[in-house]
Amino acid sequence: MIKHLLSITQLAPEDVTRVLDTADSFREVGTRVIKKVPALRGRTVVNLFYENSTRTRISFELAAKRLSADVINFSTSGSSVSKGESLKDTALTLEAMGADAIVMRHSSSGACHTLTKWVKASVLNAGDGTHEHPTQALLDLYTIRERYGRLEGLRAAIVGDILHSRVARSLTLGLVKMGAEVTLVGPPTLIPPEAPQWGVDVSYELDGVIPKLDVCYMLRVQRERQRQQYFPSVREYSRIYGLSRERVAQLPEGALIMHPGPMNRGVEIASEVADLPQSVITEQVTNGIAIRMSLLYLILGGGAGEVSDVA
Ligand code: CP
Repeated sequence: MIKHLLSITQLAPEDVTRVLDTADSFREVGTRVIKKVPALRGRTVVNLFYENSTRTRISFELAAKRLSADVINFSTSGSSVSKGESLKDTALTLEAMGADAIVMRHSSSGACHTLTKWVKASVLNAGDGTHEHPTQALLDLYTIRERYGRLEGLRAAIVGDILHSRVARSLTLGLVKMGAEVTLVGPPTLIPPEAPQWGVDVSYELDGVIPKLDVCYMLRVQRERQRQQYFPSVREYSRIYGLSRERVAQLPEGALIMHPGPMNRGVEIASEVADLPQSVITEQVTNGIAIRMSLLYLILGGGAGEVSDVA
């Protein structure tokens, strides 16, 4: 297995399958009364979050704890970062305390790659700027495979602010790698010019795409990353690109509705749509724990034996 997980592009299709298959075993651990295995006893995982997070931070923490690792949660508020300590010195300090793996979220694209040059610990990218969010892509692939039993040949649309979305980039590359057909949907201003080179179709309207989908993946409009006006108004955006009840009625029966969270209910997804039975948004969260257990286990060397040996 690779030492660092910085990008979904590092994984060959058989690596992705191995991560998902390993997560299957750990998913079962999550259903037990005692949700813990000794696989990473004595190892130390640091969660180094320079940006806010609910799902990713908590699920990495739970994943490491369920593998019996020691976990340190670091956030910038309340730390010496507020006194001006650099990323390098913060990372070296954490490594000096014995970190085996550093899970990092940072607002700068490429920050995780830079970190690998300074530390001997494994680095796992928990979202870097607008670049990538590979563990989100893997948990999404897991969720889709769990429902359909395969990824190859499925038709997925990823809808919304593709330009600013690290989730969209990682998931698109992951789906294409695994043989799915991907259409990126959004206003022309929010589709990166290089998107066609990712092996996808691009559409500027949602209604023509909806009836052909197995997966409709909605993205949050990332107002905090937008430095200009990309569409006339939120109301206009929601009318053209929001997943409404009426649009859900045009989806094929059984098609999945997905969202990485956090959601803007009433903007990219109608509130009642987020709670429909075909919406798997909370399953994505649950599966995130198993995927992150799988990754920590495989990257920190627990993967030498079969998962079932330790679980
Ligand atoms: N999907 C996701 O990355 O959510 P958080 O920002 O809450 O971690």
